[in-house]
Amino acid sequence: MKVKVRVPSSTANLGPGFDIFGAALCLYNTFEAKYVPNAKKTTFIIKGEGKKTLDLGKKNLLWQSMQETFNVLKETKYNLNNLNITINNNIPLSGGLGSSSTAIVGGIMLANALCENKLDKSQIASLAIKIEGHPDNVIPAIFGGLCICSKDENENHGTVINLPIPKLKVILCVPSFELRTRRSRQILPKMVDINDVVFNMSRVALLAAAFCCADYSLLRQAMQDKLHQPYRGKMIPVMNEVLQAALNAKAFGAFLSGSGPTLAALCDKKDANNVQKTMKNVWAAESVSVKTYILDFDVKGATIII
Ligand code: HSE
Repeated sequence: MKVKVRVPSSTANLGPGFDIFGAALCLYNTFEAKYVPNAKKTTFIIKGEGKKTLDLGKKNLLWQSMQETFNVLKETKYNLNNLNITINNNIPLSGGLGSSSTAIVGGIMLANALCENKLDKSQIASLAIKIEGHPDNVIPAIFGGLCICSKDENENHGTVINLPIPKLKVILCVPSFELRTRRSRQILPKMVDINDVVFNMSRVALLAAAFCCADYSLLRQAMQDKLHQPYRGKMIPVMNEVLQAALNAKAFGAFLSGSGPTLAALCDKKDANNVQKTMKNVWAAESVSVKTYILDFDVKGATIII
């Protein structure tokens, strides 16, 4: 038996919506597992991003997520001695495009497919949130689209709202240095000023309104943030300059993608190349090499393709 799943990248927070807003994007990782009951030797192959650095065994996040799913389903038949695993990574690992979330969602969906899809989407989502800790990458990766995510009182997946997909391009600048989400969360303060909370709440409301009404002129203000970007910006020296450059080049809004260091902007198709070039030039002036992408929103979410 062979199963293969394709999982989209995602951009989270979208400025003020820390741990709440997330969007799936048209750049994908694929994961495959083949059951070979009497194999003398199995394979664990990673192609693309992380092929030289990621663990090829028990410490691999895809495998850990598969194992966690088998545990939930009380399934003991599968292990690394009877599964051939192939990972095809297209999403940069340096941070901000939800590559870890693809491994978590991919692992759960592969294991679930090997077990006759006993978990429904909502159970998959709750398990993915439990493994990841926050919902705003795994939820869009599972459901696709632009999502408002929440957790319920028991830390399971709560209501998901799928907002209308903006007719905009997503410009991404991925610097070559890595920023781990765990580190990028540790530096956030435990206590924040209530004025900053009110500032963010107003922006989050504006952000939802901007997307619901397709009034993108609101995004410049709606994507402002005081709860995480100012702290994380200290580890990404030209963050504010790159975001401002995107706005100067006619982007509607610009923000730190997830926990960074990737920076993102939303703009009209006709302005996409110029926004991309302008953002890249700021990094180039700092001698930081960046990969850039002009992406559409993904609407399908994670899909079993075999
Ligand atoms: N909401 C998460 C964070 C997203 O900002 O830490 C991580 O990609």
